[in-house]
Amino acid sequence: MIEAAPLVQVRDLVKHFPVRGGILQRTVGWVQAVDGVSFEVRRGETLGLVGESGCGKTTVGRLLLRLIEPTSGSIRFDGVELTELKGAALRPYRRRMQIIFQDPYASLDPRTPIGDSIGEGLRIHSLGNGAERRQKVRRMMDLVGLMPYHARRYPHEFSGGQRQRIGIARALVLEPDLVVCDEPVSALDVSIQAQVLNLLNQLQRELGLTYVFVAHNMGVVEHISDRVAVMYLGRIAELADRRELFRHQEHPYTQALMSAIPIPNPELRRQRVILRGDVPSPVNPPSGCRFHPRCQLRQELGGPAICADLTPPLIELGGGHLCACHFRGAGAEAGTRAASEAAERAAATSPAGMAPSRVTSASGS
Ligand SMILES: Nc1ncnc2c1ncn2[C@@H]1O[C@H](COP(=O)(O)OP(=O)(O)OP(=O)(O)O)[C@@H](O)[C@H]1O
Ligand code: SF4
Ligand SMILES: [Mg+2]
Repeated sequence: MIEAAPLVQVRDLVKHFPVRGGILQRTVGWVQAVDGVSFEVRRGETLGLVGESGCGKTTVGRLLLRLIEPTSGSIRFDGVELTELKGAALRPYRRRMQIIFQDPYASLDPRTPIGDSIGEGLRIHSLGNGAERRQKVRRMMDLVGLMPYHARRYPHEFSGGQRQRIGIARALVLEPDLVVCDEPVSALDVSIQAQVLNLLNQLQRELGLTYVFVAHNMGVVEHISDRVAVMYLGRIAELADRRELFRHQEHPYTQALMSAIPIPNPELRRQRVILRGDVPSPVNPPSGCRFHPRCQLRQELGGPAICADLTPPLIELGGGHLCACHFRGAGAEAGTRAASEAAERAAATSPAGMAPSRVTSASGS
């Protein structure tokens, strides 16, 4: 059951990685992987995090789990500010937040039987005695659909789908509250994808889990998410309830991602919005709205300057639907009006009438 109270609250989260160069390996630039992201994850829900490759999804997941240090911003977990915790104070929270990777093979030791790998976290966190740990591992293997005799086998003896079940068991044996699922089905055959998604859904209900589910494909998040956050180049472009978002997209980037989902009925055709070019480099991202060089709406509106000059804030449109576009949902006619409104907003929020270089505001609820 989803509770209104958030388990996780993220505010203005920033992660810039240094780019090093030259013989002395000096910092010559910064990868702006995550640049001012705010959202909440409610207890018991699945928040889908979707966007093209390199837009910062994995970095957000790793920041949530404190696997990497944020450059700035706040991450509150169950009311506690995680960014201020270190060492022993952070340990109990590490157990309560786990991650499932795209490729579980990479995180499994090829020389360790999978029963021992699944129980590794229990040993690290000194949870229970040997017999209790073995019992927990057996129960978890049963829950994810592995047989008891599998415990003595090695990772190479399993199929891709089974290995992902091992990865899920490894994460869930620690009885976490939050699980970051980082593209857990992207490497699997389509037939196996549905099985693993169903398993994740079933485990969420049985164990009361909260998921952040990372994917680059809208079709996958549709089947598992309660709400969806769409990321583009380190920022959130749109965030809404899943049903609302699949009915009605406000941001041109979301519209483009949505138009790429195949429709099974050959009688029906969706108007495909082709995204021009690749995602620009996060080392030197476009000014203003980072999507502006690829935005079809901006092109239709005659290339308004405000898109390149001013970062659109993430604005609540009502009912928990947030969107960061100066012309959200606008056609060509509405464009001029929306441009002057956006310019007025910019003048009002900037003290000397200057356009702020970065505006981020959000309530993820
Ligand atoms: N440790 C690091 N050092 C430098 N740059 C990094 C590091 N980790 C990630 N990046 C960069 O940050 C950006 C975001 O990466 P991230 O892995 O979060 O993207 P993603 O949305 O998960 O992409 P994908 O869908 O391909 O997994 C990328 O440009 C990536 O190269
Ligand atoms: S702000 Fe401009 S460039 Fe950005 S999504 Fe909206 S219309 Fe496109
Ligand atoms: Mg990733």
